[in-house]
Amino acid sequence: PRSIWLSRHGESEYNLEGKIGGDANLSPRGFQYAKMLPELLRKSGLPKDAPLTIWTSTLKRTNQTAHHVVEELGWEKLQWKALDELDSGNCDGLTYAQIAEMHPEDFKARDDDKYNYRYRGGESYRDVVIRLEPIIMELERSENILIITHQAIVRCIFAYFMQVDQSQSPWMEVPLHTLMKLSPKAYGTQVEKYKANI
Ligand code: F6P
Repeated sequence: PRSIWLSRHGESEYNLEGKIGGDANLSPRGFQYAKMLPELLRKSGLPKDAPLTIWTSTLKRTNQTAHHVVEELGWEKLQWKALDELDSGNCDGLTYAQIAEMHPEDFKARDDDKYNYRYRGGESYRDVVIRLEPIIMELERSENILIITHQAIVRCIFAYFMQVDQSQSPWMEVPLHTLMKLSPKAYGTQVEKYKANI
């Protein structure tokens, strides 16, 4: 029986500063998570010699998070632009407080309708759901896969497998440093969570 392992990248320098978007490196804690990930996967019951494919976004923080899994377990790795974080357009690199101050009308519009709000020059959750369609199609016909991606993307993929309406995805809780194992069953998807102790 196959599973999909889903994780956000480890904590990044931007996460520490509360900035959104960008292409920052992992923080020291983020690198620790990357180091623990192979062990966390084994703990979650990853079959010993079943092949596992690793998908990341094209951004540094997901590739850095995948590093030890690829090194230690020697699996195949693929980068997808479709797994990049929701494009925050003119707000990229800002903190939420800075957005509220510099672009109050955008901040309010997003607060009013987070699912449909599209950052100027960027994307909405609705846009993300559409660009994830090929990913979902590929996932539906794949064996064991580990996906290391970003907060908004994890939310949308998780909502899909949990059969939660996509309009709810912007509010789903997906903490850092937590590996999720999704196992599709006849009655629905079984979810297990493994939190790294860091
Ligand atoms: O803060 C991390 C982050 O991944 C940002 O890069 C991204 O804009 C944000 O989370 C998405 O979360 P929300 O839709 O709740 O702002």
